This record gives sequence, structure tokens and C-alpha cells, in this order.
Amino acid sequence: MNLILLGGPGAGKGTQAKLLIEKYKIPQISTGDILRAAVKEGTAMGKKAKEYMDAGKLVPDEVVIGIIEDRLKQSDAQKGFILDGFPRTVPQAEALDATLKKMGSKIDHVLSIEVDEEALVTRLTGRRTCKNADCGQMYHIKFTPPKKEGVCDKCGSPLYQRDDDNEATVRSRLTTYNQATKPLIDYYAKQGMLQTIKGVGGINDIFNKIVGILG
Ligand code: AP5
Ligand code: ZN
Repeated sequence: MNLILLGGPGAGKGTQAKLLIEKYKIPQISTGDILRAAVKEGTAMGKKAKEYMDAGKLVPDEVVIGIIEDRLKQSDAQKGFILDGFPRTVPQAEALDATLKKMGSKIDHVLSIEVDEEALVTRLTGRRTCKNADCGQMYHIKFTPPKKEGVCDKCGSPLYQRDDDNEATVRSRLTTYNQATKPLIDYYAKQGMLQTIKGVGGINDIFNKIVGILG
């Protein structure tokens, strides 16, 4: 199964992707995670990407399209994948269609998780993430706090706050989403591929709704 998760910053794409990996045994491919790993490694691409990410702007299409083309060729993606945070512009979606066509593959489901803007700001400014990249468990200081403050329940690693989760950058990410990414809703709706889910409520309830659609 090849799945795209759409939704504004903080809509719960990463949270749901982590649950979907376990159920469907397919990898999550998050351009945000790949870019943050490049930033951490201090590569030339990472240094450039950080400027865009800290400003709440999109990294140029050709950079992320190149990342995705390489990632989709890896063996674990042949049995299916969950795209989280890609595509984010119409040119990215068109490039994805062309790449998959060349590979004799296609997208099976596009799910858009919808949450209103003020809720997104609250979610992102309270988000904490496990530092251990192999774990990456997400928490929220109010909604889903860890048992011990600042420590991951799953693996015991420290939690951190993302550099782009301050209110000013979050507002800028929302503007970017509305301008550049929302047109994708129409792009996939026109192809009859779009399914929309209300992303408010318990994490497991939302997961069950998604599984109800995917089967
Ligand atoms: P990226 O990492 O993709 O960030 P994003 O889209 O802004 O999404 P987030 O990861 O912030 O949110 P999420 O929807 O995964 O929510 P989460 O599950 O964590 O991108 C970062 C940057 O990289 C971009 O700004 C851009 O610069 C660059 N980039 C990435 N991809 C790119 C691309 N394709 N093209 C160009 N540039 C790109 O949940 C959020 C919080 O809410 C957590 O604390 C969670 O615990 C909590 N939560 C989740 N579900 C619920 C619930 N149901 N109720 C209450 N709280 C909940
Ligand atoms: Zn952890």
C-alpha cells in the first residue's frame, strides 16, 4: 500500500504514521525527518535546508524531490510506504506521479487530516520529541505527557523541542501550508483520490478511522 498523509503542521501526520508502520509493516518516509537528519549531520544540504526550516518556509522543490526519488528506490519501500510531509507543492506531486510511473507503481490512498489553526499552534508549541532517532516518539506536554518529565517512556532517551516549534515559526509554517500545500487538496480531489479525516479527538480514535478507510 502506497499512502500519502496530508495535513497542516501539527495535524498528527507523524503520530499516525508511527501507528500505521506497526499495523501495515511499511516504512514512514518523512521529508522533515530526512532534512532534520541532514541538519544534524551538518551536510551542505542540511545547512542550506536549516535556513528555510527555521523561517517556516519550504525547502526548494528540486532538493526534496531528489531526496524522495532516492528514498523510494530503497528496498524497504518496494512493499509500500507512508509519505509524511511530501508532496507539499503541486510540482512535488507531479514529480512524484512521474517517478512512480517510471517505477511501475502508483499512490493508492491520499488522506488529509484536518485540524483548525489555533489547535495546531497549541499542539506544536507543546510538542516534545524523543532524541533517539530510531524511536522518535512524540509527546505533548499537556495532551500526552511522558510519565517522567523530559524522558521518553519507550526508550528512556531525553526529549527535545524542535527549533521550528516556537510560535512565530509555527505561524509562518501555517501561512506556507495555506499558500503552497493546500492546493494539493484540490489536486488529489480532482483525481478522485482524496479522503478527509477530522484530526481532532483521541489519537487511537483517529487511527481507527484511518484504518477503517485503508482496510
Ligand atoms: P515537517 O517535519 O514535515 O513538519 P510539519 O509538516 O510542519 O509537520 P509536523 O511534523 O510539525 O506535524 P505532524 O503533522 O507530523 O504532527 P505530530 O504528529 O508531530 O517539516 C518541517 C520543515 O521541513 C518544513 O517547515 C519545511 O521547511 C521542511 N520540509 C519538510 N518536507 C518538505 C517538503 N516536502 N518540501 C519542502 N520543504 C519541506 O503532532 C504534533 C503534536 O500534536 C505532537 O505533540 C503530538 O503529540 C500532538 N498530537 C498528535 N495527535 C494529537 C491528537 N489527536 N490530539 C492531541 N494532540 C495530538
Ligand atoms: Zn524514545
